[in-house]
Amino acid sequence: EGYLVYDPGLADTAICRSEITYIDGDAGILLYRGYPAQQVAEKCTFLQTAHLLTTGELPTGAQEEQWLARIAASTLPGNPVWGPLFDAMPAGTHPMAMLAAATSVMTSLAPDGASSIEQAGFDLLATMPALAAHAFARVEDRPRRPYDPSAGYVENFLHMCFGDSPVATDPAMVHALETLLVLHADHEQNCSTATLRLVSSSNAGFFSSVSAALSALWGPLHGGANQAVIEMLQAIRDDGGDLGKYVAKAKDRNDPFRLMGFGHRVYRTFDARARVIREVAREVCGKAAHDPLLDMALELEEIARNDEFFLERKLYPNVDFYSGLIYRAMGFPVEMFTALFAVGRAPGWIAHWTEAATAPERRIGRPAQLYTGPETRDLQF
Ligand code: CMC
Repeated sequence: EGYLVYDPGLADTAICRSEITYIDGDAGILLYRGYPAQQVAEKCTFLQTAHLLTTGELPTGAQEEQWLARIAASTLPGNPVWGPLFDAMPAGTHPMAMLAAATSVMTSLAPDGASSIEQAGFDLLATMPALAAHAFARVEDRPRRPYDPSAGYVENFLHMCFGDSPVATDPAMVHALETLLVLHADHEQNCSTATLRLVSSSNAGFFSSVSAALSALWGPLHGGANQAVIEMLQAIRDDGGDLGKYVAKAKDRNDPFRLMGFGHRVYRTFDARARVIREVAREVCGKAAHDPLLDMALELEEIARNDEFFLERKLYPNVDFYSGLIYRAMGFPVEMFTALFAVGRAPGWIAHWTEAATAPERRIGRPAQLYTGPETRDLQF
């Protein structure tokens, strides 16, 4: 009674019990329902991974067919509201703002009361790539292309974005995007997933919880880091390319600058996902025209990994450090990067929302505070 634990950042506070994803930050281990994420990335498609995360198991052949059919049957991706909604947004609107708005609107297109949690999950999986592709079309002033549920998930998405351009059918690009989506599919109580759980705890609906999660993901300390990394590399390049100068800035305690794509709340060693993504970046960025930003990123990693400041604090490249280079090689502008992360994170959000909704200890999320304001005083008039 009366005893509070002060824990800004909630680093030492468990907000739920969860059987979805396990992380050992010291060993750099990430398990999806028990399976190492790298193994899942190597052997499973994104939708098989979504099945694993949301139901607990990989699908059998027959289950998978049925499951894909239910996703393909969702009518939300083709809803006529998306065109006018996205067109009405002012030029310069960030794709994450578009996704947050659109998912919020989904609440009225598929009222949670009228559909099961399961159906809401199918609708989200089906619709996220369509929304991201519409955001891309709006940002780049490209034609909006119809959703084709008969195509593969990743192929359909790339086609909606790039039409018949070779990138949409290039097996290396399709494989790279599939791998990235799998590796982003869940990461236990990260800021956006914890936000989703907190919002859902008030009995708000699924899509409004997802909309809130998207807003949390947008921030540069979370999913927005993939955009911030490329912008940082470009800024360093434009400033003469002196990496040492920026490493010194990141170490200066009086300078707010941080090396974007470095550090993690949970990992105290190399993030296993970052290793895989670095190799995919090496393959993809060397493919068409070599990207000089990849060389800068590799060199920056080398400098940081041999620097006392980063070693002492156990700051390693995270999942966002190399992913932007791959999105860039595909032809996506930086503003789209976090939206691509969001497409990948949808299965995690579905799994956590479902788990939270059915948890026996379900209770509204309502943290405490330590009050530091004035004591009681009387108005003097
Ligand atoms: N560059 C320079 N110094 C850093 C960095 C960095 N990227 N990250 C942490 N530090 C320092 C920090 O200044 C502090 O030093 P000191 O102990 O001397 O005060 C120490 O390391 C611990 O940092 P923290 O801020 O207490 O760590 P946190 O767990 O609260 O924050 C983080 C984790 C990811 C927000 C942070 O490392 C960061 O800002 N990184 C850059 C942004 C980024 O890449 N975010 C993506 C995260 S991974 C994917 C995702 O979540 O989407």
